[in-house]
Amino acid sequence: MNKNEIIEKTSEFVKGKLEGDSSGHDWWHIFRVWNMSKKICKKEGGELFTIEMAALLHDVADWKFYENENEGLQLIREFLLELKIDKEIINDIIEIVRNVSFKGAGVADKMNTLEGMIVQDADRLDAIGATGVARTFAFGGKFGNEIYNPEIKIKHHNNFEEYKNDKGTTINHFYEKLLLLKDRMHTDTAKQIAKQRHLFMEVFLEQFYNEWESLK
Ligand code: ADP
Ligand code: NI
Repeated sequence: MNKNEIIEKTSEFVKGKLEGDSSGHDWWHIFRVWNMSKKICKKEGGELFTIEMAALLHDVADWKFYENENEGLQLIREFLLELKIDKEIINDIIEIVRNVSFKGAGVADKMNTLEGMIVQDADRLDAIGATGVARTFAFGGKFGNEIYNPEIKIKHHNNFEEYKNDKGTTINHFYEKLLLLKDRMHTDTAKQIAKQRHLFMEVFLEQFYNEWESLK
């Protein structure tokens, strides 16, 4: 199988797994992250094949959907072995998928390859801006969280367990993650794109609070 065929097969595999998801992690999230990763790679360099494969597979093993993260990673490894991909490249892809997720405001990122940084930047660009606003409310609804509750305080999570188990509001999620992302981008290309998307979220929140204020 050549690289294009492998990518085609992988996109079909991922589509089958995530199609129809209503938590903001549907196939079209993957499609956007994949294409954004390619776009960033064109400007910043890195191994395109590893980047594309990691972007396509990045949410298949996500902790939000698996009790045990290793179970999802094992599934990816088996899929990649079947495609006869070089072992070293498989390890690179798995390492990116393992480290891509945000784990709390006070938890440092552990991405140490350019390929991983590009995929993480692309994933995070899809968490902000208008797309990010839409996705985060979809997620909150799906997981039974309130939109906004003025009595629930914003939290700065210092470890992954705390972040994972917290059931805050979706508006709080902006402060606990989304507004922090622009300063956690790795590549200059993503930093540039993030600026405008960040501003849009600030405008959205300002309007949201103005509407609350208007009740007084
Ligand atoms: P990551 O791997 O960094 O978690 P994902 O691609 O899996 O990124 O998507 C995370 C997205 O899911 C967030 O950007 C947000 O839109 C949504 N999300 C995750 N946790 C919450 C939450 N507690 N409340 C609202 N949205 C959330
Ligand atoms: Ni994602």
